[in-house]
Amino acid sequence: MKAIEIRKKYLEFFQKHGHVVIPSAPLIPENDPSVLFTTAGMQPLVPYLLGEKHPEGKRLTDYQKCVRTNDIEEVGDNRHLTYFEMLGNWSLGDYFKEESIAMSFEFLTKELGIPVEKLSVTVFAGDEDCPRDEVAAEAWKKAGILDGHIYYYGKDDNWWIAGEEGPCGPDTEMFYDTGKPACSADCQPSCDCGKYVEIWNNVFMEYFKDKDGYRKLKQQNVDTGLGLERMAMLLQGKETPFDTELFSPIIKKLEELQKVDNIESRRIIAEHLRSSMMLIADGGRPSNIDRGYILRRLIRRMIRHLNKLQIDLNELSTLIEINVENLKEMYPELEKNKEIIIATMLEEKDKFVKTLANGEKEFQKAINKLQETKTIPGDVVFKLYDTYGFPPEVTKELAEENGYEINLKEFDELFKKHQEKSRAGSEQKFKGGLAEQTEETIAYHTATHLLNAALKQVIGKDAHQRGSNITVDRMRFDFNCDHKLTDEEKKQVEDLVNQWIAEELPVTKQEMSKEDAIKSGAECMFIEKYPDIVTVYSIGTVSKELCGGPHVNNTKELGRFKIKKEESSSSGVRRIKAVLIKD
Ligand code: ALA
Repeated sequence: MKAIEIRKKYLEFFQKHGHVVIPSAPLIPENDPSVLFTTAGMQPLVPYLLGEKHPEGKRLTDYQKCVRTNDIEEVGDNRHLTYFEMLGNWSLGDYFKEESIAMSFEFLTKELGIPVEKLSVTVFAGDEDCPRDEVAAEAWKKAGILDGHIYYYGKDDNWWIAGEEGPCGPDTEMFYDTGKPACSADCQPSCDCGKYVEIWNNVFMEYFKDKDGYRKLKQQNVDTGLGLERMAMLLQGKETPFDTELFSPIIKKLEELQKVDNIESRRIIAEHLRSSMMLIADGGRPSNIDRGYILRRLIRRMIRHLNKLQIDLNELSTLIEINVENLKEMYPELEKNKEIIIATMLEEKDKFVKTLANGEKEFQKAINKLQETKTIPGDVVFKLYDTYGFPPEVTKELAEENGYEINLKEFDELFKKHQEKSRAGSEQKFKGGLAEQTEETIAYHTATHLLNAALKQVIGKDAHQRGSNITVDRMRFDFNCDHKLTDEEKKQVEDLVNQWIAEELPVTKQEMSKEDAIKSGAECMFIEKYPDIVTVYSIGTVSKELCGGPHVNNTKELGRFKIKKEESSSSGVRRIKAVLIKD
């Protein structure tokens, strides 16, 4: 069964059981600067798991696009993926263990046709925080799981929480027996020899963990996650996700193009290509910080492996086209954003290629001096990153190919310091710019908020702010947009801002918790880390943004708004320069 059919069956099955299908949230979380990417289906649903009413009701289902980046360097083996799709169903204080387990069993055995003897399940063994989950075990027996196929494990295996704090609870996991011989007499689902593959996880989310320990939530929830790529692989009897239709066209093309054979490199290219395309389609752009840095690492590692296979880098756009064709039915956003995806990838490739050869020379020089220790110290890894743009995993791979190791811990420390400095630097710059606080800069600052709101109306809600810069005599504003603005669009933006100025809208300031601010729908740029209490500036009802201020009291103080220039800033990002004219 193809992945897209599994997805369809899943959503239809849960719809039949009273669930409403909700859309996948973007990979780049809206309004949540605390996490890099969406890593699980439950993430966008946290407020509802905590008790807020969801507009679609108490039973939800979706497919969620996810990126997990803790094991980028593991990609290349036969199972790790950074991008994957999670099918999920939720009870928000509605059904609990028994019904959830009965539905999972029915879906696996009836809809997907998995023979019951291939299924094993695990449940929570119990500890001082939460009792042994006999309810789940009983429900499995009742559903039809065979004797001897239920295992009890502790918190390490059968407890689920995203990170350190948040909603959590005991889970029950379903495993598929691949039919491979057992590695030993006590081979069990928890063993990673490959005989058992985890296919689905149902979390009974009735606890909340914070630094003081566990407490019960207002309601008993169910949160489940089924990895689509893995399920497709098993149902198709394939050894790895790379053998499924999701990756096979790319792998095949790489085999055609390569001059050197290396299966690991082909997998890395196929995986990183898909992840980066999905990230770019959802608004991601390479940079040296936070989310952009992860995307940069994925693209650069892919480029190096294309080089390793001696594939002409000009083939990159062909590879992107193949993926768009292959995946557009599942992800129409890839086709919609094809031009930006190609432009962003090629721009990043060109940047990396410029420094790659010199970086490799520098690397050779460095290792020649380190023949005794065979370990590359953190500062050398850092220099390769800082001067030549080598992501640490690229240096690590190069090192390993030459029989060396790298000191990643030292690198991480240096990298952290560097990031803190550049973050502080940019905050300082921002503060510094406004510290002048002249009448002009304050007026431009308010105009920035109006422009931000106007662009969302004219270009679309994805026209997010990417940066801004204000001086006493002009403003500059960068935002996501995949095309050069037409004259008509520029005029509409200008007219809207001037209309709001003419409406003499009051500018008001409110202090509130960050949570409330985000809930109220206030705009904010991702990268900034806001404190717990934030200020929110509203302009009439047209704009609401988290912001430190200061601002004018009323838009009538602004004068006339005029766009002077509209140009490209980087791929997928446009820049507007504008002035306020006091007539
Ligand atoms: N949130 C659970 C997981 O990610 C379902 O495994």
